[in-house]
Amino acid sequence: MLEIGLPELQDHLTAILQDRYAIQREIGHGGMAVVYLARDLKHDREVALKVLYPHLAAALGAERFLREVRVAARLHHPHLLPLYDSGEADGSLYYVVPYIEGGSLRDRLERESPLPLTAALQITREVADGLDYAHRRNVVHRDIKPENVLLDEGHAVIADFGVARAISEAADTQLTEAGLLVGTPAYMSPEQVMGEAVDGRSDIYGLGCVLFELLTGAPPFTGHAPLAVLAQRLNNARWLARWHGSRQTASRRLPSSPGFSLLEPARSHPRRSLPLPYAARRSRRGSRCCLS
Ligand SMILES: Nc1ncnc2c1ncn2[C@@H]1O[C@H](COP(=O)(O)OP(=O)(O)OP(=O)(O)O)[C@@H](O)[C@H]1O
Ligand SMILES: [Mg+2]
Repeated sequence: MLEIGLPELQDHLTAILQDRYAIQREIGHGGMAVVYLARDLKHDREVALKVLYPHLAAALGAERFLREVRVAARLHHPHLLPLYDSGEADGSLYYVVPYIEGGSLRDRLERESPLPLTAALQITREVADGLDYAHRRNVVHRDIKPENVLLDEGHAVIADFGVARAISEAADTQLTEAGLLVGTPAYMSPEQVMGEAVDGRSDIYGLGCVLFELLTGAPPFTGHAPLAVLAQRLNNARWLARWHGSRQTASRRLPSSPGFSLLEPARSHPRRSLPLPYAARRSRRGSRCCLS
């Protein structure tokens, strides 16, 4: 395992990848990796080179990482970010994707939020289109959020397919011990919060939360700490049952996703007073948009 910090990581990568990529600067970093703007020397083009943090690379292992990346490499769709290259170099695990100058949907939200209705619906439709393609091939993203939607000439492309799944698989083993939460609290489905099996519906839930944020300016669940956000998520499942009306109406209308078993406590305590989620209190219209 490499015990190095971010500046040293960049120097290390610059040295070990110098024959193929010239690393120019850091674009950003998230929970799993650092992203660099680099020049692909062979094809003379700008690329984004994403390198897993050393402790994750060590926990995941090259074989599992490259296997999941291969799954992602087989996906070809206008709204999925294609994969150019991937590899292992001196203990570092990396993959290379097109550099998207337009940045992420999060960057756009930082400039303009909420978005106009037409823009919000166009982006959501494009992400849904990409997800539908991947789900029909049994590939689930698991971490749909504005940071993972890039805007290429104004059109949405989903980044990071495959990697969230690899990390999540590893979470069952070594990474759990490191206390890693797979997924992003504000956009996680109840079944993901509960550690249950997830399928494409979990991504659709995440996309619903993103749409809510595009339209209202805040995700449906907010809080000062990840655990507070997750608690709201579970509370909301109960609120949802009340919102849908009586016990019978709720069981007739609610989807049959495994996460909706969370509704059981609310169904057995229909009169309990339950808080509306923060953003729904601010905009009931927004919450209907997200849920209907
Ligand atoms: N291909 C790309 N082109 C341009 N910018 C990118 C690209 N990939 C990522 N970025 C930028 O780098 C930032 C960090 O990306 P990264 O995927 O490491 O973290 P994240 O998406 O914020 O969180 P997570 O680790 O949960 O995926 C993104 O928010 C985005 O702004
Ligand atoms: Mg990402």
